[in-house]
Amino acid sequence: MLEAIPGEQVEGLLVGLDSGDDAGVLHLSGDLALVQTVDFFPPMVDNPRSFGRIAAANAMSDIYAMGGKPLTTLNLLAFSCSLGMEVLKEIILGAEEKVREAGAVTVGGHSIEDDEPKFGLAVTGVVHPSRVFTNRGAKPGDVLILTKPLGTGILTTALKGNLVTEKDIAKAIEIMTELNREASEAALETGIHACTDVTGFGLAGHLLGMIEGDSVDVELWTDNLPVLPLTQEMAEIGTVPGGQYRNESHFGPSMIWEDGNATFFHDLLFDPQTSGGLLLVLPEKRASRLMEKLQKRGLSQIAIIGRFVEGSGLVKVMPNKESDHGS
Ligand code: CO
Ligand code: CO
Ligand code: CO
Repeated sequence: MLEAIPGEQVEGLLVGLDSGDDAGVLHLSGDLALVQTVDFFPPMVDNPRSFGRIAAANAMSDIYAMGGKPLTTLNLLAFSCSLGMEVLKEIILGAEEKVREAGAVTVGGHSIEDDEPKFGLAVTGVVHPSRVFTNRGAKPGDVLILTKPLGTGILTTALKGNLVTEKDIAKAIEIMTELNREASEAALETGIHACTDVTGFGLAGHLLGMIEGDSVDVELWTDNLPVLPLTQEMAEIGTVPGGQYRNESHFGPSMIWEDGNATFFHDLLFDPQTSGGLLLVLPEKRASRLMEKLQKRGLSQIAIIGRFVEGSGLVKVMPNKESDHGS
């Protein structure tokens, strides 16, 4: 959609439309750059408080994916009064909890009547202009860290189909409400080459966005992928979100499957995520230091899931890192 907008040279614009990055960045003065993003969607869970929390964590994630700090937020709401004011209040309060946790402040919003509810936030933040994370910059010899487990698309689709309850997928809900702040701050301390967050395009799509057209490939190790409980069970009985097919037809041609047991990983890698983790790219020799920092900050399901090698912008899916050493 953004391709329809003619590119523009603007002084101080550090990240604009052309890079497919998570948020826009404008250098204001000295050490100060502005980061802006917006995200909204229909509910993926029944509990309105959880939905509000997830929407806020998801929207602010694009600020964290740029190495920024959210400062102010605006609520965007489409809502039908027939759902009741109590539901509306819960959504708003859920978001407010996360905005405060992030140290940001809600400064306004806009609402319209709509039979299908939708909620999200526009977020403004700041970042040091020379410490902006972008999605490009992976080099051969770098490794890839993922900071949240996968499977939220499959599990919330199972929830919609009444195959599981919110209690069954409590871990997924907890993960979606988690801010990516800790991961972003740890990455700022360590120094990284590239960063993005995993959302609607799935792990495969966001990973390809980091390397497409570049002279690197990524070897993605399926054995190392962190996966939410029940994801495989639900995928195996055919619970597939609509977005998965779109992702597969779009990104599938840039992927090479060297994993014999790939069926579940097809589902997992193309699974659209809500409020997913950060993908952090950095030299292998610094990776253990970052992993330690992430663990100290309480992130439990983080993993090194792949490595960058010279190539042509492809994702090579393989069982584990040993497979290409012949050991
Ligand atoms: Co993003
Ligand atoms: Co976004
Ligand atoms: Co970025």
